[in-house]
Amino acid sequence: MRRIRYCVANWKMNFNCSETKSFLENWEKKDLINKEVKTIFCPSFTELNTTAKLLQNSNSELGAQNVYYESNGAYTGEISCRMLKELGCQWVIIGHSERRSIFGETDEMVCNKLDKLTSENMYPIVCIGETKVERENGKTEEVLSRQLSVAFENQKGKNIENIIVAYEPVWAIGTGITATNDMISETHQCIRNIFSTNGFNGSNISILYGGSVTNENAAELSGITDVDGFLVGGASLDVNKFYAIYNQL
Ligand code: PGA
Repeated sequence: MRRIRYCVANWKMNFNCSETKSFLENWEKKDLINKEVKTIFCPSFTELNTTAKLLQNSNSELGAQNVYYESNGAYTGEISCRMLKELGCQWVIIGHSERRSIFGETDEMVCNKLDKLTSENMYPIVCIGETKVERENGKTEEVLSRQLSVAFENQKGKNIENIIVAYEPVWAIGTGITATNDMISETHQCIRNIFSTNGFNGSNISILYGGSVTNENAAELSGITDVDGFLVGGASLDVNKFYAIYNQL
């Protein structure tokens, strides 16, 4: 089976509505000739509506950067799946390392979010990754295995083909340092093995690499076995750079 390839823009807390508009008006002039690759834009909540409208006749899709796992109620500041779906948002990033380290998102919360998204027929982009200290202490496999086992605990026996995993070594995010080709290749293979050990078909799942992907290193990174696309932060804020990354997938 040929896995789907993805180029996902994580705009984080950057664009406001007029910046979003100017980016996407330029994006719509680009020829998305690479039909094998899906492009997904993940703006802040307040830009979802604008983005949805601008992408209406586009081949690119809409994603959110977070969601809460309850359906409704007294959860000040949170957003539900139903609210996202109403805006035409199908994809949601969960477990991003910034959510984990700054906002205290735990593996159990990622599991709850994953369960909620799949029950709502939405598509999760599950982020995992080790810190520098964990890698240096030889703990990478242990950390990824824990993150995945907890998150996917309730997915056993279910079809997980619509779930994307993004491997993002924490030390490579926004630092300008990318993991080496060997590290990425080994780690993506390790992630597939963790899925297989947990009773899933690891070869079916699309695994993206994230962490300082740029238009300059995308060609090389996309050639690595088991890399099915990118989750791009900084370089996704420049329309020409993001298009160049997409074209190299
Ligand atoms: P970066 O961010 O491309 O700026 O390193 C990636 C991410 O956090 O998803």
